[in-house]
Amino acid sequence: MKPILVIGSSNTDLVASVERLPGEGETVMGSSLQKFTGGKGANQAVAAVRAGVPVAFAGAVGTDAFGDETIQAFQTDGLDLRYLRRTESAPSGTALIAVDRNGRNQIVVVPGANGLVDREQIDTIEFSEFGLAVFQLEIPHPAVWHGLKKAHEAGCITLLNPAPAATVPAEILALVDYLIPNEHELKILSQNGGTVEQMAKVMLDTGVKNLIVTLGSNGAACFSREGQISVPAPGVPVVDTVGAGDCFVGVFAAALYKGFDIEQSLVYAVSAASLSVGKAGAQASYGDWDAIQELAATT
Ligand code: ATP
Ligand code: RIB
Repeated sequence: MKPILVIGSSNTDLVASVERLPGEGETVMGSSLQKFTGGKGANQAVAAVRAGVPVAFAGAVGTDAFGDETIQAFQTDGLDLRYLRRTESAPSGTALIAVDRNGRNQIVVVPGANGLVDREQIDTIEFSEFGLAVFQLEIPHPAVWHGLKKAHEAGCITLLNPAPAATVPAEILALVDYLIPNEHELKILSQNGGTVEQMAKVMLDTGVKNLIVTLGSNGAACFSREGQISVPAPGVPVVDTVGAGDCFVGVFAAALYKGFDIEQSLVYAVSAASLSVGKAGAQASYGDWDAIQELAATT
């Protein structure tokens, strides 16, 4: 199998711990402020590379200090950064995050350089170098649609995590081998407020091949023409769920790369994501393959 390519966003996450999340117009006091590397694309790339597979990350960061720190972290993790662009035209992406004592969060993303990823940048990528291509929706959608077309044409296995939630045109969904939403994103995608099974049926009827729905503390389920596979999540203490969905997607891609079937890949993805909710931060909470396997063995 050729390496994994992740195309998407990179942010610096500024995380405030609060007793409870503020309501509209309300000020609450935080007990700590921490800085982490984050962003949905970068999180997925880091989760995959930590699982021990070769990964390239394509995106954009600014020439500021956050960009320097991000690149240093990527290099430490061993990501291939040939397709990462540095730009003076915008600051690095930033996410302002509040996490409450139950691990619930609120996030405001200021995209900065992520918003400059465009079709021209995608055209610089040699997709035939890669076996799997992974996308999310935290960079401009035209760039994502263009990347999916090029990845599909080049014969890559394609994964789309439709987050932040948005609708996706049917002709784009047709290019996706694994569509991986959480329940909220599935509701937006399917334009249906029914059960997960009902929403999944809507998506399969529009031609989606493999729909994998992450279900928080209930694990994940895969729906396809062959039927349904459900994998429960282990009971774990929850510190911070930021980036759990990204961890799931990255490790699922890594497990496919390693040659595991869908069911076993789901087991590894659920285990890795559940492991990550026990620690603060997104990338800071991701384990390596040994840790993932250890938890998966108990599932
Ligand atoms: P986030 O936006 O917080 O990154 P998400 O909404 O995209 O996450 P979820 O469906 O909430 O995704 O969770 C993804 C995976 O994380 C789950 O499939 C599960 O493995 C793990 N997970 C999340 N919450 C819990 C929990 N409370 N206990 C155990 N595992 C969890
Ligand atoms: O999915 C979690 C990520 O969403 C955070 O790391 C934050 O950067 C936002 O993009």
